[in-house]
Amino acid sequence: MPVTNEIILHSFYLFALFSAFESKDNILFIVVDDLRPALGCYKDQMAYTPNIDTLAKNSILFNNAYVQQALCAPSRNSFLTSRRPDTLHLYDFYSYWRMAAGNFTTLPQHFKENGYHTKTIGKIFHPGIASNWSDDQPYSWSEAPYHPPTQHYKQASVCPQPDGTFGRNLVCPVEVKFQPGHSLPDLQSLEEATKFLHAQSNSTLLPFFLAVGFHKPHVPLKYPTKYRELHPLDSIHLPSAHWRPSFLPTVAWNPWTDLRERDDVAALNVSFPFGPIPDNYARLVIQSYYAAVSYIDDLVGQLLSELEAAGLLNTTIILLIGDHGWSMAEHGEWSKYSNFEVSVRVPFILRVPGLTDSFKFQHKEYLSSSVLVELVDIFPTLAELAGLPIVPPLCPVNSSLVKLCTEGVSVVPVIQDAVFRKVQGIETRNRYLERKWKTGVFSQYPRPGVFPTLKPNSDKPRLKQIKIMGYSLRTLRYRYTEWALFDRQNFKPDWKYVIARELYDHQLDPAENMNVADRSFMSETVHVLSKQLRAGWRYSLPKHMLTRSN
Ligand SMILES: *[C@@H]1O[C@H](CO)[C@@H](O)[C@H](O)[C@H]1NC(C)=O
Ligand SMILES: *[C@@H]1O[C@H](CO)[C@@H](O)[C@H](O)[C@H]1NC(C)=O
Ligand SMILES: *[C@@H]1O[C@H](CO)[C@@H](O)[C@H](O)[C@H]1NC(C)=O
Ligand SMILES: *[C@@H]1O[C@H](CO)[C@@H](O)[C@H](O)[C@H]1NC(C)=O
Ligand SMILES: *[C@@H]1O[C@H](CO)[C@@H](O)[C@H](O)[C@H]1NC(C)=O
Repeated sequence: MPVTNEIILHSFYLFALFSAFESKDNILFIVVDDLRPALGCYKDQMAYTPNIDTLAKNSILFNNAYVQQALCAPSRNSFLTSRRPDTLHLYDFYSYWRMAAGNFTTLPQHFKENGYHTKTIGKIFHPGIASNWSDDQPYSWSEAPYHPPTQHYKQASVCPQPDGTFGRNLVCPVEVKFQPGHSLPDLQSLEEATKFLHAQSNSTLLPFFLAVGFHKPHVPLKYPTKYRELHPLDSIHLPSAHWRPSFLPTVAWNPWTDLRERDDVAALNVSFPFGPIPDNYARLVIQSYYAAVSYIDDLVGQLLSELEAAGLLNTTIILLIGDHGWSMAEHGEWSKYSNFEVSVRVPFILRVPGLTDSFKFQHKEYLSSSVLVELVDIFPTLAELAGLPIVPPLCPVNSSLVKLCTEGVSVVPVIQDAVFRKVQGIETRNRYLERKWKTGVFSQYPRPGVFPTLKPNSDKPRLKQIKIMGYSLRTLRYRYTEWALFDRQNFKPDWKYVIARELYDHQLDPAENMNVADRSFMSETVHVLSKQLRAGWRYSLPKHMLTRSN
């Protein structure tokens, strides 16, 4: 082969690929509230997200990324501390881990303690007790958290209705100029982020860790009307099965109470807990979810333009995730609050300068990986990519006194493997690593009883109401869930009392419509998966981590 520039570049590149990171790159961490992979780059046909798709072209996409619990506060505290709900003792909104579980170092705090300027805009930590009413200040952030003032009108009656009045609706396209404060929270967050990035350009300041938390597409689906025009109603369709599967245990059902509270949904008189939202209204809700996602996509595009204009694109690692998914009529369900794939799977898009962007991947396919990853993996991954002196080590079994450790795994080797294969022109799907990496990932969801209830609200029981925990294991092929009695004093399940099981074979039933846990021909599979589930996340770690933790 002649020595071409390409080969020189290539060798240089492979060298860069496998040398240690010492970049001190900036971090831009974008968290989108309630965003499932309803994005063009995740092959969602109804999505219109050109800006995030462009970001994805220079990034690695994780196709199998899962949250630890499909509820804002527990999920966020989990990925921000890299520990799981059972370690944080947080399954609701009402405790602060530093008081309830241990004085654990957070992701932004670790960057701050290593010379970064850290800033939060919008919703990163869940507000309220879960972050001590302060977004974990003074520990996590170098300056006061920014919250957009118009978030104050979150619950206000501002959604125009056909009769000229205003309601507290779920479906809520608005004219921004007629809104209180003449703006919307995410528009204000973008302005704040823009200001921050301007100040960083030219600067010889510290490297920064900027976290931007967009509030939409969380309910209410309030967004500028123009984004609805991108999603004409005749292009919106319901999932093929949008009713309650017959073998679904009642404990698994979440009655989407947050939707029922909205005026427009309440007016439909949908019966509790299983009654369906009528198809014609369901279409409007789905349309507005996609419209709200297009709105956020536009803001992400503007944010990235600002980053580029400030000359920072090549020195900033960008990560975009959702904090959990959202059901859109799948199983006749809505919202989060469950262990279904649609609730726990999220987009995970990571752009690493000089790694995922430098070769022009001029293929139609995105650079992607199908290994199983979890949001607890974010902390060690970003620490390694930025070359921080300490990448948090794996937590010991009892970690309440260990400030800095992780219950996840850095995915840097996965990125290197994916890039290497792409550069070498080897088949893009890294099957080999899939089997070498995590053999299972874990999510969980609490319930106050076996049947859906309004009081207590079975979608979001408080700690003192929790009686049952659904533990869910996702392997490359299956989702397996056991709903067991839960000891809320010791934060442990009692596997002697399993109330229900669910098993979905993703090879045959990717939409999880057919619970086959009780079929006799699946009993061996159930047995094996049950063992893996009960052994817990440590026993599903990649082999190199297993040996390290022994
Ligand atoms: C918790 O840790 C932080 C630093 O990580 C320290 O400043 C603070 O004093 C600690 N608090 C307690 C109660 O130990
Ligand atoms: C939580 O906030 C309160 C009131 O601001 C403060 O007194 C307390 O020290 C904070 N807790 C921790 C662990 O920092
Ligand atoms: C950066 O520096 C250039 C040249 O000195 C100047 O024109 C520009 O206004 C500066 N940008 C900011 C945001 O300070
Ligand atoms: C819902 O119930 C109310 C009161 O029972 C009734 O006035 C209204 O017409 C019902 N709406 C629909 C859509 O059935
Ligand atoms: C960023 O990197 C790309 C490729 O590595 C290069 O072509 C481009 O000029 C760089 N841009 C800046 C602003 O440094």
